[in-house]
Amino acid sequence: MLPELVVASANPDKVKEISEVLDGLVTLIPRPEELPEVVEDGDTLEDNARLKAKAILEATGIAALSDDTGLSVDALGGDPGVHSARYSSESASYYDNVEKLLKNLEGIPPRLRTARFQTVAMVCYPDGTEVIATGVVEGTIAESRKGSEGFGYDPVFIPYEGRGLSFAEMGEEKHRISHRGRALRNLVEMLSS
Ligand code: IMP
Repeated sequence: MLPELVVASANPDKVKEISEVLDGLVTLIPRPEELPEVVEDGDTLEDNARLKAKAILEATGIAALSDDTGLSVDALGGDPGVHSARYSSESASYYDNVEKLLKNLEGIPPRLRTARFQTVAMVCYPDGTEVIATGVVEGTIAESRKGSEGFGYDPVFIPYEGRGLSFAEMGEEKHRISHRGRALRNLVEMLSS
């Protein structure tokens, strides 16, 4: 029998990807709609993943799966990092965040635009135990947007393993090499061992 986990994320873009990656590996239970969004004010990706999973576990009594992701850009000292969702402002759209990123990297040549996405994926169980896995993908930040799929910073992230395409030009092929795909597959391997 597949493990049953309630999805802690309230972000439909992330939920779509989580469902695609874990299809046939885990039975995902949707997050109850009436639950308020969890405030992600932790200092690390792991803190934020735990805040989300614990909140949903407490509300449902069911083992909860969360993930938290940050984009770390070397030329910006690791920013936006844990602040990736609110890089431009508290209510920033994906577009606003990408705009700010491109602006802050203006004049930086391609070879110095190195970056990585990092994901922490976590399951918190009712007995207090937790399982944590990570996933990373290395790449560079493009000088302009390319592609219309995916979400967030996908139009400007060019993974080294992606034949020069941005994540937003890849569709589901993204999951094979992405931070989230890797973290979730690592997590499932740990759950089944
Ligand atoms: P979260 O804290 O995991 O929800 O992610 C923080 C922010 O990182 C999101 O609001 C997106 O802007 C960005 N992000 C997360 N995952 C991805 C991804 O797979 N591609 C592009 N951007 C992402």
